[in-house]
Amino acid sequence: MECEERANPPSTAEMVPHGADRRRRPSPSIRVPIRATSTSLRPRPIGYDLPVPHRARETGAGSLSTAAPRSLTMRLRAPLIATILFLPLAATMTPDASAQAPKEEFNYDEALVREYTLPDLLMIPAGDGSDSEAITSPEAWLTVARPRWLGLLESTEYGRLLPAVPVTAEHVERGPGPDGATRIQARLRLGHGPDAPATEVILYLPSPSRGDKPELPSPSRGDASERLPTFLHLNFSGNHAESTDPAVRIPSGWVPNGKDTGVDDNRAKASSRGTLASRWPVKLLHDRGYATATAYCGDVFPDHADGRKASVLPSLGYVVHDARMVRGDEPGAISTWAWQLSRILDWLVTLPEIDPTRVIVVGHSRLGKTALWAGAGDERFAMVVSNESGCGGAALERRNYGETVRRITTSFPHWFAPTFATYAGRETELPVDQHVVLAMTAPRPLYVSSAVEDRWADPRGEFLAAVAAGPVWGLFGREGLGTDTFPAVDTPIGGTIGYHIRSGPHDITAVDWGHFADFATRVLPAREGR
Ligand code: GCU
Repeated sequence: MECEERANPPSTAEMVPHGADRRRRPSPSIRVPIRATSTSLRPRPIGYDLPVPHRARETGAGSLSTAAPRSLTMRLRAPLIATILFLPLAATMTPDASAQAPKEEFNYDEALVREYTLPDLLMIPAGDGSDSEAITSPEAWLTVARPRWLGLLESTEYGRLLPAVPVTAEHVERGPGPDGATRIQARLRLGHGPDAPATEVILYLPSPSRGDKPELPSPSRGDASERLPTFLHLNFSGNHAESTDPAVRIPSGWVPNGKDTGVDDNRAKASSRGTLASRWPVKLLHDRGYATATAYCGDVFPDHADGRKASVLPSLGYVVHDARMVRGDEPGAISTWAWQLSRILDWLVTLPEIDPTRVIVVGHSRLGKTALWAGAGDERFAMVVSNESGCGGAALERRNYGETVRRITTSFPHWFAPTFATYAGRETELPVDQHVVLAMTAPRPLYVSSAVEDRWADPRGEFLAAVAAGPVWGLFGREGLGTDTFPAVDTPIGGTIGYHIRSGPHDITAVDWGHFADFATRVLPAREGR
């Protein structure tokens, strides 16, 4: 089949960056009757009916209990302990790890999705070994269930959340941006002292006339009721790649090579400016009344298998050079990028123009996984948007469809905690699934989006995870998705969880952003006196 371009994605070593895969338009709309927690299809051997291999866009807390739900404890204890103590991280982190991996086949046949049962979000084991506790109130969710699930996500999948550090804004520059916007550019020093690591942030505020929406209130001049809601996202290749603005600073460190950006020596270049601007439609967001900010993820963790050494992790006291010292729940790139988002939020909320109660975190693909984890770890984010985040993001792992745990932890070992790789081929033994990371957003608004041609990310698995997370919003008297019927293509749906499946390939486009803004405007209205 020709429309499965991400079926056999390149290894890390082969990566061609972001923006390289404007994949083909597709296929008919899908309408699928679904079961929220299990499928009853008879499991059959995995096969694959596809694919023309393609070169995808490879762009490139408190004290928490980590006890597994009781029903799973016996099965998990031995492998978890072994992993936490002895996993030779170095073996999973060699840049050519994927080259040594056994060849894997990927399933794209819905009939071959295995039978599975998801962990019950609202049933938590009692600490004293007595019967499991049913979670029936918002308080019980927030004080018992949520910390338990968050700890399991840390220990089995993403690694520990990183500690906050002081953030100092340096080289702050204000100037006119495109289309009457105001640009604020800052270098944020993350930690103590002048040598602490830094990230460059670019923030655009809408012009006072707000483009074609003059009826909107004028952007804030410090009046609390007029502060701006803000979309914040990380980018793959440098701020300059997503903006045509000549004043946007260019990263000095490693950037991924890519056809779209024209980078072939992992060094950022001026000629990449604006090459990925379609991913960040600033004017569209301004016309809807939103400020918008971005930063380059590689500022804190270069996105390659050896990126840990050049990451911020040593500055936070993590060992990166001695594999024997690395724990199974060691944070990977996703936890580090999520930390970057929180540190940028630390700065955003100090700005008089920004409404600190309405900062929305958005991410695409690997950075969509990151947005979910950032929203899980930092409840100051008012809303979370995951765009085509797939495996390790919004898509259910137990559905063996598209990318697998084996594949992702082989190609991208640096993204996750080392323990996650031990669930390769044993997804049904994970004490969590991806509905758990979605539920971490509750009761805040959550938006999940998919693309029809992006079967590698398992659109239906992303939708089903959103359905399965819904009962947690129910505890708070809020509607989750409001349906378990897969929607028509290009037709957003939802209550406090929103969802759409866009026609077209794996990408983040103005169409996606328009739906995010529509949803945010509905679920996060300005309140008097903010
Ligand atoms: C690869 C990877 C995905 C990831 C994507 C991206 O396709 O397998 O898990 O989401 O890259 O970040 O673009």
